[in-house]
Amino acid sequence: MSAGRKSVLVFRELPEDQLARIAALHDVTTANPRKPEQLAAFEAALPGAQGLIGSSYRITPELLDRAPRLEVVSSISVGVDNYPIASLQERGILLCHTPGVLTETTADTVFALIMTASRRLVELSNHVREGRWDRNIGEDLFGWDVHGKTLGILGFGRIGQAVARRAALGFGMPVLYHNPAAVELPELAGRATHVPLDELLARADIVAATLPLTEQTRGLMGPREFARMRPGAIFVNGGRGATVQEAALLQALDAGHLRAAALDVFAVEPLPQDSPLRRHPRVTPLPHIGSATHETRYAMARLATTNLLQALAGSRPDALYAPGA
Ligand code: DGY
Repeated sequence: MSAGRKSVLVFRELPEDQLARIAALHDVTTANPRKPEQLAAFEAALPGAQGLIGSSYRITPELLDRAPRLEVVSSISVGVDNYPIASLQERGILLCHTPGVLTETTADTVFALIMTASRRLVELSNHVREGRWDRNIGEDLFGWDVHGKTLGILGFGRIGQAVARRAALGFGMPVLYHNPAAVELPELAGRATHVPLDELLARADIVAATLPLTEQTRGLMGPREFARMRPGAIFVNGGRGATVQEAALLQALDAGHLRAAALDVFAVEPLPQDSPLRRHPRVTPLPHIGSATHETRYAMARLATTNLLQALAGSRPDALYAPGA
């Protein structure tokens, strides 16, 4: 190893040009532990790794024990629920993430979930594909207006706020939001109201979750909360699956209390083959596509690479989530 070069373990595929930025300065091993044939290479590289970059893999304290030289973990995601934050801090390992660059794309996805569930887009497209469009559709296939409906947003971070702008300014929707603190947004003055959770659930026609997964939000939407939603309301989730008790959601749908749900995230991903959410007639499931566009995934990879290189050079990364102790 040349002087100054460090060992970097890339645990999810990176665009070629971003990989080249790292390889110009450091020694790189690419091994995706989610691919069984690459797991051994990942394990073998851990003891020497000073930088880790990737996403969608749970990093445990036990894994950190096997990476004693680690200085930085650079996640290609905004969510950090896959990382043991306290253990990283105890060991003085920096954690970086990718806020900002995926906000608008993920808000587009959440709004697509709202449109899909309300206007039954996937169901009606399948109606055409499966050869059942042989006469004008009847009331049994009509949807529900989105414009003018009251939208309740759970979580009012960057993504929740971007959903609120789409709803309030584009679709004339009164917005309620549940968040630890009120957020002053001049462009939404008088259009978005900070309310307690129970009030939001009781008043919203459509509830959209954009929550991170934390100890406070895990299982937040349970039987009590779904029962408090308006009869015939819609639930969508573009945050983290484990903020929802999925059995309670299914129960609310099966009881006819909720109209429909559209979900981009699940407690277990990929969604198990036997999950009833895969085939429920009033659930539209998506494979966690929140930020999955060419432009945004590239921007995330570039920011994560910059974070990694800055940390390995001893500078403060642009998007530091948790400073090392
Ligand atoms: C994130 O960045 O946390 C998203 O969930 C990935 O799409």
